Amino acid sequence: MKAIILKKYGLPKVLEVGEVDKPAPKDREVLVKIHAASINDWDWGLVRGKPFVIRLFFGLRKPRVRILGADIAGTIEAVGSKVTSFKPGDEIYCDLSECGSGGFAEYVCIPEKIPALKPSGMSFNDAAALPHAGLLALQGLVEMGKVKSGQRILINGAGGGVGTLGIQILKSYNLKTTGVDSAEKLDLMKSLGYDEVMDYKKLDFTGTGEKYDLILDTKTNRSAVKYIRCLERNGTYITVGAWMNRLLDIFLTGPLISLFTGKKLKVLFHQPNKGLEQLSKLAEKGQIQPVVDGPYEFEKIPELLQYFGEGRHKGKIVVEVGDSE
Ligand SMILES: NC(=O)c1ccc[n+]([C@@H]2O[C@H](COP(=O)([O-])OP(=O)(O)OC[C@H]3O[C@@H](n4cnc5c(N)ncnc54)[C@H](OP(=O)(O)O)[C@@H]3O)[C@@H](O)[C@H]2O)c1
Repeated sequence: MKAIILKKYGLPKVLEVGEVDKPAPKDREVLVKIHAASINDWDWGLVRGKPFVIRLFFGLRKPRVRILGADIAGTIEAVGSKVTSFKPGDEIYCDLSECGSGGFAEYVCIPEKIPALKPSGMSFNDAAALPHAGLLALQGLVEMGKVKSGQRILINGAGGGVGTLGIQILKSYNLKTTGVDSAEKLDLMKSLGYDEVMDYKKLDFTGTGEKYDLILDTKTNRSAVKYIRCLERNGTYITVGAWMNRLLDIFLTGPLISLFTGKKLKVLFHQPNKGLEQLSKLAEKGQIQPVVDGPYEFEKIPELLQYFGEGRHKGKIVVEVGDSE
């Protein structure tokens, strides 16, 4: 089968388009024919082996993961002898980051507990754009952030995967929403429903004097003290992504600050695939529809990863892997 192969860490040009053996499912695994995959920060980190902590888990000098790709949508082609939840022909989607990647290939074998049925009526391309970013948004805003109608909410990095899905997850609440991202993405963000948009290159949202009940940040790059200042009383700040020193700052000072101010600073640790059924329900109701950058051809994955790393994408980059017939 064709696959994008990672042999050493480096910029995405180190990736090779090649052939590897088609896998066979073990007793409790399903074999998925992949139709579409999307690109995440997870892949960008793994290809470069950065930040360094990635190498502690995935190989210090050489990557142990041969094939990247976390988000996929596809059809189950075969099941292992002890599989009870799926059958050949089922259309599924999921995030492979909890079982070691492998989405940038024609087939993958995964434990049966990982996938969920693809939202009915949704294309494979759209479904592949949902799991990783959609669940970061759902877990951040709803589960950890406990969003409520009447609140004022800000999403930082609002034009990326998490922010474009996050605003749609919030549709059923009556909120005042602010999205922060670069100038090229502001029109898209307005069209998705953000009440206010801000260009982070021109304005620092922590310095405007405005206060929010809930902040979801995909690009934490300031000190905990700055975030505290722009939270309402009892407000919550949640980071899903940042440089390690910033994450540590929030993680370590958060509980102390909370003790004295009643405001909360939290770090979200992504739980892959947790809440996928809930995401499916939102998709089936037509409440969420990913913003797809693409679809692109499979062979373009190395250059698309570079495009992702440079932050030029809007929403989710989707790649068509194989036909869905
Ligand atoms: N917590 C966890 O367990 C976990 C797990 C997986 C991933 N993550 C993290 O979750 C985040 C994924 O977000 P995503 O999928 O939405 O990424 P994304 O698609 O890359 O979107 C991020 C957006 O932020 C914008 N941006 C860059 N610098 C910014 C700044 N200083 N201020 C405001 N916006 C800025 C980018 O635009 P420009 O580049 O055009 O400026 C881009 O539109 C990543 O940080 C990733 O590391 C966390």
